Amino acid sequence: MTVNRFWRLDSRPQGQDFAAALSFQQEELAPLGAGEVRIRNQYLSMDAGTRMWMSARTDGYQPPLPLGAKMAGLGVGRITESRDPRFPEGALARCFGQWADYTTVPADGASLAVLDEGVGDPRHHIGALGMNGWTALVGVRETAAIRPGEWIAVSAAAGATGSLACQIARNLGARVIGIAGGPEKAAFLREKIGVDVAIDYRNQDVSAEIARIEGGVNAYFDNVGVPLLDAVMPHMALHGRIAVCGLVATYDSETPLPGPAAFDQVLMKRLRIEGFFLPDHLDRADEFFATLRNWVGEGSLFVPFDETEGLENVLTGYARMLTGRNIGKVVVKVA
Ligand SMILES: NC(=O)c1ccc[n+]([C@@H]2O[C@H](COP(=O)([O-])OP(=O)(O)OC[C@H]3O[C@@H](n4cnc5c(N)ncnc54)[C@H](OP(=O)(O)O)[C@@H]3O)[C@@H](O)[C@H]2O)c1
Repeated sequence: MTVNRFWRLDSRPQGQDFAAALSFQQEELAPLGAGEVRIRNQYLSMDAGTRMWMSARTDGYQPPLPLGAKMAGLGVGRITESRDPRFPEGALARCFGQWADYTTVPADGASLAVLDEGVGDPRHHIGALGMNGWTALVGVRETAAIRPGEWIAVSAAAGATGSLACQIARNLGARVIGIAGGPEKAAFLREKIGVDVAIDYRNQDVSAEIARIEGGVNAYFDNVGVPLLDAVMPHMALHGRIAVCGLVATYDSETPLPGPAAFDQVLMKRLRIEGFFLPDHLDRADEFFATLRNWVGEGSLFVPFDETEGLENVLTGYARMLTGRNIGKVVVKVA
């Protein structure tokens, strides 16, 4: 008998009280069904967007996770059983699966992929060379359409997606403003990520700092939403672009929140505001991987890991991310 420990969503969390909403359970692993693949998780990826799946909102980009279901999330590990020859036993694989020792998914799921072992550390496949890196690349290069010499501001800039967006923008020749919470993060952005300007939104006036950029900011890679968006929007340059990657400040709300106060700037500055969602772009995964791997190889792209040990401690890692205590990519080591 193989025991599978897992986290179950029992109720919709109130704010950051995840311990009251999720419980740690175990079961005997069921026999694998036709067309399924089973992965022994090595690392789970803690992603801010999963907070929305826990809520009851039905107007999100995916339906709410049903109560009583295993908590869903991205992970990387080894295939232990497979009913599909494209996904052989023993291969390193990544997919949106479960917060569990073992993830069981249909082989035709869009996110399931056999991974390049040559990368070394499997955590890269859920960081710079996985969803965070791909998201940052699409957002900076395509949605924000950044050009050499332009200014781009990035919020949640010391987190996984944001720190990669800063570096990708810099690699594409842009000048970068990183916005994050706390002096330690501002120092990290200046010293390790190489931004031109670091703003600590907890201790500095973001609007006043951005106002110093002559001619305004050409692009904003938004991970947060209001109120930071209100601080940046009045200082956008003519024909600026706002790439809406995420709205992490709103994810624990069960109702939609008001939009930006300075919405009139869309007309005054002829701005383009566009949301983007990485799963819409997965058909280009090979190109994303190759581009990012090149930068990682030459040392111009990295993300530090903020690692929590043990599946039983997953809520510690998760809360670190959603309360902004992380620098870099939050992962949980399962095995
Ligand atoms: N569009 C897509 O396809 C896509 C894909 C992946 C991720 N995303 C988005 O990317 C963003 C970052 O996600 P991630 O998984 O990489 O997590 P992350 O940035 O590593 O961690 C989340 C960060 O959000 C910031 N934050 C949390 N609550 C905040 C608040 N109320 N106000 C301001 N900042 C707050 C915290 O940093 P600070 O306190 O330093 O700001 C925290 O470190 C999220 O918005 C996520 O939804 C979008």
